[in-house]
Amino acid sequence: MKKIIDFIRQNLIDFAVVLAGFFLLKIPYLSNISLFLNGYVVASLIWFALIRPKMDKRPFNLHRSYFYLFYSITLFGFFLAKIIVREIGLYASPFFIPITLLVLLFDVEIAIVTSIFFAIIFSLVFNLDALGFAFILTNSLLTALLGSRIQKRMHVARSALFVALFSMIFYLFHIELHRVDINLMESLVILFIPIVFSIVSIGVLPFIEYASMIYSNVDLMELSNLNNSLLKLLSLRAPGTYYHSSMVANLAEAAAQRIGANAILARTAAYFHDIGKSKRPYFYTENIYEKNPHDELNPKLSHLIIQDHVKSGIEMAKRNRLPLLIQDVIPQHHGTRVQKYFYHKSKDMGEELSENEFRYSGPKPQFKEAGIIMLADAVEAAARSMKNPTAGRIKTMVEEVISGIYNERELDESGLTLKDLEAIAEEFTKVLFSMFRSRIEYPKEEIKKVINLAEDSLGQQNENEDRSKKDQASY
Ligand SMILES: [Fe+2]
Ligand SMILES: [Fe+2]
Repeated sequence: MKKIIDFIRQNLIDFAVVLAGFFLLKIPYLSNISLFLNGYVVASLIWFALIRPKMDKRPFNLHRSYFYLFYSITLFGFFLAKIIVREIGLYASPFFIPITLLVLLFDVEIAIVTSIFFAIIFSLVFNLDALGFAFILTNSLLTALLGSRIQKRMHVARSALFVALFSMIFYLFHIELHRVDINLMESLVILFIPIVFSIVSIGVLPFIEYASMIYSNVDLMELSNLNNSLLKLLSLRAPGTYYHSSMVANLAEAAAQRIGANAILARTAAYFHDIGKSKRPYFYTENIYEKNPHDELNPKLSHLIIQDHVKSGIEMAKRNRLPLLIQDVIPQHHGTRVQKYFYHKSKDMGEELSENEFRYSGPKPQFKEAGIIMLADAVEAAARSMKNPTAGRIKTMVEEVISGIYNERELDESGLTLKDLEAIAEEFTKVLFSMFRSRIEYPKEEIKKVINLAEDSLGQQNENEDRSKKDQASY
């Protein structure tokens, strides 16, 4: 009994959400209390058997926002489905919007289990027949599966088109089974309503993302181009860092793809991982072309200046409402590693400072993509200083860097396995080898190209602003 009470106490919000969902569906049909309670018990059992296990994993256990967003979409889904079925009809794909949002903002697994939950509860509450239940279930599952292939906004419309055709087949089957006349108006609605829903889903997505800072891959991808003001600033103020970030992005994307992590998240987060370096760019090696300012500084002070890019980066990311997981990558890409260069410099100068004085404040990488970026960052830095790179030397360097970080126990909380690390090492070697085939060191021309590109787009933006000011003046 105590166990049950503890379980209820620990999961009070989940019980409340299921209850709220039930109320949303049942009202104003709440006539039979015992039926209602039976339904609520069944709904809670399904919730804890199917959905809750999918929430006990990253990124849910990193940010409470993931829970709140999931609860909100689920409740909104019930509310919307009730209205759609009442006002338009059962075959109008009532769960298209919530399932599409879930698959875009979370993952296909959670969208699938929620589809099953929606179908069972909806059929129970509205006493649907077997065909009605089969329709709701397969329609939602199809939405989830098609949604997992969405990479561009346009793909949402494509998914809607398939769902519409599928609904039509079910509707025709229903007509045939019940021997009723086909209703032209109803048929048109069944065909067109998913398209309308796809437009609504695409329309609300940016608002949800801005409010929750939980991003879909579609919008993560959009963040990683030079139109983003933070990246534009980085490319102008710290072109070397921008170039380094692009290299890290290439490495991280390939590695994430290989081990089945989120390659788009890895790529985009890599672009922003050193965003804080745009504050004092000339203290960072990739932006130092002439005199090294650290030559005249105390190593401890150098460490504090370098470490500051993490703090500044987090501030900039928060101010610009970057995705939560990208905000996480900024401190996690250095974890609690020691800045060995300045530590050894301090030791050589006879200072008696411990290693911990030169340690980043962490935390260690908390998810696979953050771990991959830590590795890619270190590998890229090591690759930059390589002389005469051959396939064999690149392989050895990559393996040394990865095993070094692994032995420092920085990857302990990232979820990366030894098998993952082997695959990542292979992928890094491949990518670096193909990079080295075209260049040996950072080509100054490439950096110039980045500056020109950024200046061009900034110039174009200024031109547009000038033009719009002129337009205003010509009223
Ligand atoms: Fe960094
Ligand atoms: Fe970096």
